[in-house]
Amino acid sequence: MTKKEAQIRLRDLCANLRRHNYAYYVLADPSITDHEYDRLYNELVNIEALYPEYIERDSPTQKVGGSPLESFASIIHAVPMMSLDNTYSRDALAAFLTRVQKQLPDHLLGWTVEPKIDGVAVNLRYEHGKLVQGATRGDGTTGDDITNNLKTLRNLPFELDGEGGQLPSVLEVRGEVFMTKPGFLRLNTQRTRGGDEPFANPRNATAGSLKLLDPVIVAKRPLDIAIYGLGEVSPIPDYFPSKQSGLLQYFEDIGLPVPAKYWTCQDASSLFNILEKLEVLRHTLDYETDGAVIKLNDMHLREELGATAKAPRWAIAYKFPAEQAETRLKRIFVQVGRTGAITPVAELESVLVSGSKVSRATLHNADEIKRKDIREKDSVIIEKAGEIIPAVVHVVLEKRPKDSKIFEFPDTCPECQSKAVKFESSGTIGSIWRCPNTDCPAQVRGRLEHWCSRKAMDIEGGGTVLIDQLVAKGLALDVSELYHLKQEEIASLDRMGNKSAKKFMEGLAGSKSRDLWRVLFGLGILHVGSGVAKALAREYPSMHELMHCDVGNLVALEDVGETIARSVVDWFTDARNHHLIHRLEKVGLKMESILYQQRHIKTDNDLLHDTTWVLSGTLPSLSRKEASEKIEFAGGKVSGNVSKKTNFLLAGESAGSKLEKAKKLKIKVITEAQLLDWLEKGEG
Ligand code: IVH
Repeated sequence: MTKKEAQIRLRDLCANLRRHNYAYYVLADPSITDHEYDRLYNELVNIEALYPEYIERDSPTQKVGGSPLESFASIIHAVPMMSLDNTYSRDALAAFLTRVQKQLPDHLLGWTVEPKIDGVAVNLRYEHGKLVQGATRGDGTTGDDITNNLKTLRNLPFELDGEGGQLPSVLEVRGEVFMTKPGFLRLNTQRTRGGDEPFANPRNATAGSLKLLDPVIVAKRPLDIAIYGLGEVSPIPDYFPSKQSGLLQYFEDIGLPVPAKYWTCQDASSLFNILEKLEVLRHTLDYETDGAVIKLNDMHLREELGATAKAPRWAIAYKFPAEQAETRLKRIFVQVGRTGAITPVAELESVLVSGSKVSRATLHNADEIKRKDIREKDSVIIEKAGEIIPAVVHVVLEKRPKDSKIFEFPDTCPECQSKAVKFESSGTIGSIWRCPNTDCPAQVRGRLEHWCSRKAMDIEGGGTVLIDQLVAKGLALDVSELYHLKQEEIASLDRMGNKSAKKFMEGLAGSKSRDLWRVLFGLGILHVGSGVAKALAREYPSMHELMHCDVGNLVALEDVGETIARSVVDWFTDARNHHLIHRLEKVGLKMESILYQQRHIKTDNDLLHDTTWVLSGTLPSLSRKEASEKIEFAGGKVSGNVSKKTNFLLAGESAGSKLEKAKKLKIKVITEAQLLDWLEKGEG
């Protein structure tokens, strides 16, 4: 291809692709297949790579901005992003409608029903109609700035269409990024051919794609978005919709893509009809849906309901029943976890359930195998619902082979051959066999992996590949030994190399200043999940104070009962654990509680003297009482209603009509983080 030919071809490709984009996204009438589109797009990418001097300014590939990032910046959401409560039955759904009606007895309530798209929630900020920032939900308060990645979404406008009316100067919209089903299958085929692990389902593929630091790669992933909600809107114009249905229409009018289908209804029976329709229709939708989201249509009434710590009271998700499939159980094997629990796993002939390939199912414990009489070579019905690990529901007895034998649960640890010990569990799960040897390599590996996991110390690269080798070679046998490893040592291991070794070392260094709750959770103390770890860290400033607590101190805390308290105290009384904490301290782990500091900032001045505050919505970490106390302690007054006399509105999730009123009156809106910051720095 000559230079001239390349230039002409580029111009053609750009014009064609723009036309196809328009047909697909605006007219909803695709002019070519996705496959053909990708072919043209790839041709464009290839020619542009050869002749960068001819890249057109508005080429479809140039929707991508910037070069690869080192890492994502964190951003604090102007309005926190909440999650939804789930229901799984019509009864629970009817109970939800009744509950809301009881709280709003004088209103005839209307509802919207939208598909629950199985993707990744994001917030998009438009200022004066231009897309300025896109972020992940993160923990609801703080997310990652993934603007460049979101700019690659094929149906996301960079600029809103404000011609029909004005746009608010700040308009934040929220929606779900998803991968279409055909796009997902194609991506996985490409990955397997290229020797990469396929993604388990479209949601994982979406999340994995949005986490990539190079937007040029993200641009090649078949991602789309549907918008269904709001973040910050300022100022709120008079014409702004007051109903969810009107809001979705408004989104369409200003050029934003919305869910393919949505309905409105007023009572339980029509709601159930809609759900039945959706349950059939969802299989024809381009994307995966795992249920429906039911929202109170009137956005003003939502304010009266408020929210719990996690979710608004005006909306609920209804999850479709789990999908089942039949397959053959090839063999049963047992695994040993970090606590020594020996759990049986079924290896299956792989089968597609709820859009993902399943080749293993959990069998929970020995009692479950006995009760269901599950045997090797049986045909079984398996079930999978959303995130939940697939489980064997029952055996298809008619298909049982004649020579089948009852499964004998091993009475020794498969890893270290110690004699297994039976523990009767207090719950409904039945009895559990445990390996009593805390030095068992399987337990050691489990503890190290758990320490590194994202939910605990979040040390990148500390997965199975590395940990298995560290333990096998005796390079690290407890979590403190990880911090003595040398980069060259790690780089010389199988499937590691210099780059991943460096990443891991950086991860270790970063983990030294993690919040106390992560350390507590990461240590794997029995019964201390992340929720309990946070409850402990809210009360204790550092590991030292916590180490000397007794059962009495602990049970006084919310969320901590006798069993948990005893387990924590026992753990700290064990001399080996004491030594471990000392070794962690020696390698530089801080083990201080940021959660504690946030709650106990000293406000010993008159910083907020003569100011009047109103609180609205749910705050990320403080209760309303705690926030009021802080304000009052610093000399401020807290009042119930927004008026001209109000100086500040402290707004959390679902701040609703108070927030609107405050904005109309031009009252300054403050987040919890800002308030804490002021109080700490002593400036207002
Ligand atoms: S509204 C405060 N609408 O489901 C409520 N969420 O389980 C905000 N989701 O985090 C959510 N489709 O990621 C809403 N039509 C829809 C949705 C939807 C999918 C996701 C969203 C949310 C999760 C909650």
